[in-house]
Amino acid sequence: MAQRGLLIVVEGCDRSGKSTQCENLVAQLQQSGNNAELVKFPDRTTQTGKMIDSYLQQKSDLDDHAIHLLFSANRWEAMKALSEKLNSGTTLVVDRYAFSGVAFSSAKGLDLEWCRNPDIGLLTPDIVLFLDLTIDEAEKRGGFGQERYEKRELQIKVRDEFAKLQDDTWKSVQREGSTRHLGCH
Ligand code: TMP
Ligand code: MG
Repeated sequence: MAQRGLLIVVEGCDRSGKSTQCENLVAQLQQSGNNAELVKFPDRTTQTGKMIDSYLQQKSDLDDHAIHLLFSANRWEAMKALSEKLNSGTTLVVDRYAFSGVAFSSAKGLDLEWCRNPDIGLLTPDIVLFLDLTIDEAEKRGGFGQERYEKRELQIKVRDEFAKLQDDTWKSVQREGSTRHLGCH
C-alpha cells in the first residue's frame, strides 16, 4: 500500500500571498518526486461553491450563520475524494481550510465555539502554515480586492481571530512587513 500523503494547510488573511506560495510548494514537491496536488477552499465550482461565490461577490445576501454552514458544507462534500487521494499517497496542499471558516465568521461577531462545531470531524491537517503579514503590508500589495471581506477593519479582526486558533500543528511564517528580529519587540 502507498505511504499516506501529507495534508498541508496554508492559511492567512487576504493578500498574504497564499495562492502563490501554495503553487510554489506544489511545484517544489512535484520536482522532488512526490505526488502533490493543490486544493482550494472555497471550491467555487460546486453547488455550494456557487452560492458562496455569489455571496462573496455581493450578488446575494445570506445570514451570517447560513454562509458559515455553507463554507463548512463545501469542505465536507470534498472529504471523501481528498481522503482517497491522501490514502493513495498524494500530498495535498490546501489553500484555506476550516481555520478560515472560524476566523472570518468569528471576526464578524459569531461565537467562536459555535463556529468550530460544523467542521468537527474533517480530516486533520498534518501541518498548518500560517502566512503572517501585517494588514498595512497586505494593503500595500495593490490593496484588497472587491469581495465582501476584503476590507481593512475586518481583516485586522480576522488576523486576531487566527491568532486564537494556533496550536502545535501551526507554523507561523513571517512575511515581509511583519518580520521579527531577535531581541526586538
Ligand atoms: P479566497 O479569497 O481564498 O477565494 O476566499 C474567499 C473569501 O472567503 C476570503 O475572504 C476568506 C473567506 N472564507 C470564509 O469566510 N470562510 C471559509 O470557510 C473560507 C474557506 C473562506
Ligand atoms: Mg480572496
